[in-house]
Amino acid sequence: MDELKEVTIQTYKGWDEFYNIEKSDKLDFFMRNGRMLDVLFSQQFDRAFLDDMCLLATRIRRMALTKMGAQKLSGLLSHKRAMLYFVQPSTRTFISFLNACHILGMKISEIRGTTTSSEVKGESQEDTIRTFASYVDLIIIRHPEEGFAEKTSWILNQNKTPVAVINGGSGPDQHPTQALLDIYTLERSFRNIGGLDNKKIAMVGDLKRGRTVRSLSYLMRNYKDIKLYFVSPEIFRMRDDIKSFLNKHNIEFHETDDFAGVMPEVDAIYMTRIQKEYSEAPAEESDIYPQFHFTKEHLSVIQSHCIIMHPLPRRYEIEVEVDKDPRAVYWKQERNGMWMRAALISYLFGVDDQISAEFR
Ligand code: CP
Repeated sequence: MDELKEVTIQTYKGWDEFYNIEKSDKLDFFMRNGRMLDVLFSQQFDRAFLDDMCLLATRIRRMALTKMGAQKLSGLLSHKRAMLYFVQPSTRTFISFLNACHILGMKISEIRGTTTSSEVKGESQEDTIRTFASYVDLIIIRHPEEGFAEKTSWILNQNKTPVAVINGGSGPDQHPTQALLDIYTLERSFRNIGGLDNKKIAMVGDLKRGRTVRSLSYLMRNYKDIKLYFVSPEIFRMRDDIKSFLNKHNIEFHETDDFAGVMPEVDAIYMTRIQKEYSEAPAEESDIYPQFHFTKEHLSVIQSHCIIMHPLPRRYEIEVEVDKDPRAVYWKQERNGMWMRAALISYLFGVDDQISAEFR
């Protein structure tokens, strides 16, 4: 990691020009020698990378079962430090990254709101980021602003600072590490029925502002013959950028508000919460959209192998009684996040080979 980012973002006049470049046209700016430097959006991941990360996550999970394995893992990055800069609320992304860093032996600093940093005194975002970079090797960011993690990468590049950046959720735009753990959950759940290829997935709820379903949709181009069903109220339909991407990559998708009609057809149901935090108006009780909830009665309607996912936190979208059904995998999904994030960090720092060597 010490000689990161000789990439040539400097050739652009400024941040706005760089940000407006099509994501697929600037993937190389976040790579060096065929390896990712920063993890900012899902379009960075190809099938080989996804398969490698799933295998690595499983290997870390297995090593962590024994004291000897856990000790080996915790020596891998004991010389590195990470900053968790979470200025939008988070429970599981924060805790799972924190524990992923602990598994690999990293030291951690954290800021969980701009009111506890010198931003409250008027320090600019640029200076704040440069300050973090003075102390750590990795910055993990949860931020309400779309593109903030990418901007951080750009700022550090401008200053030739060898610090890696991971996007832990950027406003209503993307959540790429959630998409990685979702893929891991889908692949593990379908490992006896051919994996994720050829599967039908329903995404349900607030698709417009749900960054998890947006990031996961981008990853579908890496799998064969996927069919997506976007199930939502009219006002929360998937945004056009995702639909254009799916059309461009010939991925079949259908938009509907008929949840009951879709349920028996699909192999996975990915529930999401109405993202109230992005609404101007206070939510009314009537805003909970019960026709887009999954209840215990629905368990008899879905296929025997159909899994029920949710990035969590949930509010009303899945009845608690559904939790005990083995097809409800959202608690496993949540835990998978820790293993997948440990896999990703080990890859970024180039110690993934040392983990794989334990299995030869
Ligand atoms: N899934 C997810 O991002 O959860 P948190 O907001 O609790 O981190």
